[in-house]
Amino acid sequence: MKESEILPTKYADMPDQIVAGEGLWKGRLLKFDRLKSTNEWAMEHLDFCRNGDVVWAVRQTTGRGRLSRSWLAPDDRGLTLSVVMTGLKQDETVPVLGQIAALAVRDTLEEYSIYGRLKWPNDVLVNGRKIAGILAEVDFDRNSVVLGIGVNVNMSEDDMESARLARSATSMLIEGGRAFDIDSVRECFISELERAVEYVVLDGTSHVADVWARYDWLAGCMVEIRGTMGTARGKYAGLDGRGRLRVIDGQGRERVFWAGDVEKIVLGR
Ligand code: BTN
Repeated sequence: MKESEILPTKYADMPDQIVAGEGLWKGRLLKFDRLKSTNEWAMEHLDFCRNGDVVWAVRQTTGRGRLSRSWLAPDDRGLTLSVVMTGLKQDETVPVLGQIAALAVRDTLEEYSIYGRLKWPNDVLVNGRKIAGILAEVDFDRNSVVLGIGVNVNMSEDDMESARLARSATSMLIEGGRAFDIDSVRECFISELERAVEYVVLDGTSHVADVWARYDWLAGCMVEIRGTMGTARGKYAGLDGRGRLRVIDGQGRERVFWAGDVEKIVLGR
């Protein structure tokens, strides 16, 4: 690891190491040995952060999940990082960033011969179990987005069982049958994310729904969506160009959702 920029004094709340050239677009990697939450730190230190900084915690102790849930990453066995993006136009790019990050995780897993599917809004699943989650938080005043990514890398079935996640979560170790080097997974993810974000900057977001559809875990299913703005049951109709979930309800009406939780309906139950 290049250690070109190391903070001279150890400040309580500052990174243990700043590595130049390993962040997004060869920006900074702000490395912490231990942190409560990379998203929390980034949101609280946006004045310190630059566009493309990657806040990485080797050990994250109180990770935040979507919808006020938590994110568990025992010791150093998960990849937990947040990417800071500033100066984005308040346009359609912002809402789909989480989906772009999920696509970048899926592409990263494929590099290791693990084949993930995507579940709206931005989960990555393997064999129906969650392997990665994304939490995008926005500071509108500072025109900044913090994109938090958690990937289960080297957790074992025992780890999942102790966290009571044995049925719902999996890891690269479980799926790939071997341990993975977290540094290489991180580097691979950062270059996949760079590629995906650049594509959107050049080409807009309209292609995202089409790419998503190729790997969509919900394709062709009946679903129940509990959105932040209400609930619906019906036929899943994929994403629209702004990253919203579309459902055709029992009356044949299309309903769209910005946020929430969606599950497949198992017919006959
Ligand atoms: C979810 O699926 O609920 C989203 C999980 C997001 C977890 C990541 S881990 C790195 C970053 N820091 C956090 O506190 N959360 C995100």
